[in-house]
Amino acid sequence: MADELAADIKSVILTEGQIRGIVQRMGAEISRDYEGRNPLIVAVLRGAFVFTADLLRSITIPCEVDFMAVSSYGDGVKSSGVVRIIKDLSTKVEGRDLIIAEDILDSGLTLSYLVELLKGRGPKSVSVAAFSIKDIPNHAPAINPEYVGAHVPNEFIVGYGLDYAEKYRNLPYVGVLKPEVYQG
Ligand code: XMP
Ligand code: MG
Repeated sequence: MADELAADIKSVILTEGQIRGIVQRMGAEISRDYEGRNPLIVAVLRGAFVFTADLLRSITIPCEVDFMAVSSYGDGVKSSGVVRIIKDLSTKVEGRDLIIAEDILDSGLTLSYLVELLKGRGPKSVSVAAFSIKDIPNHAPAINPEYVGAHVPNEFIVGYGLDYAEKYRNLPYVGVLKPEVYQG
């Protein structure tokens, strides 16, 4: 059934058109800030792979890309605070300008861990490009990204790379999952 995935979505948060505009703007900011520097974009798998593919194509200066896989959630919906490296970079980051591309910032624990880890390898600089940030009342994330796409409500969201139990990554938009889908 064609709408099998869409049937599980309560509401659309970011349409394809809005996403295009957001990522274009982020790419323009990065292109301006990193002119002449050949930054290495570090995509955090798996969620950020869709965002990173679009971000890369909206950056107009020379840049490189590499991938890292971490796990902070398992198949659940709550942050465990435990970050496990599943796949490391193949590129030497010493002396490089790094831009970590992440799909969503919730508590920020995943990213603050990654930033510290990468800083320990002696890069010239580390910045963060977060496609989305959850608006959590009375709670600041552990890290302030240099590049921010959109603020999203404090609900479980899927699509555009974001998953629930590995599903919904292929939705071209971002939406809120119906609670009954993960509450069973
Ligand atoms: P923290 O709390 O460490 O969490 O900032 C960031 C990581 O948790 C995942 N995450 C989500 N994944 N929908 C998802 O599909 C969500 O609403 C969501 N909130 C957090 C995500 O993998 C991110 O890297
Ligand atoms: Mg996930």
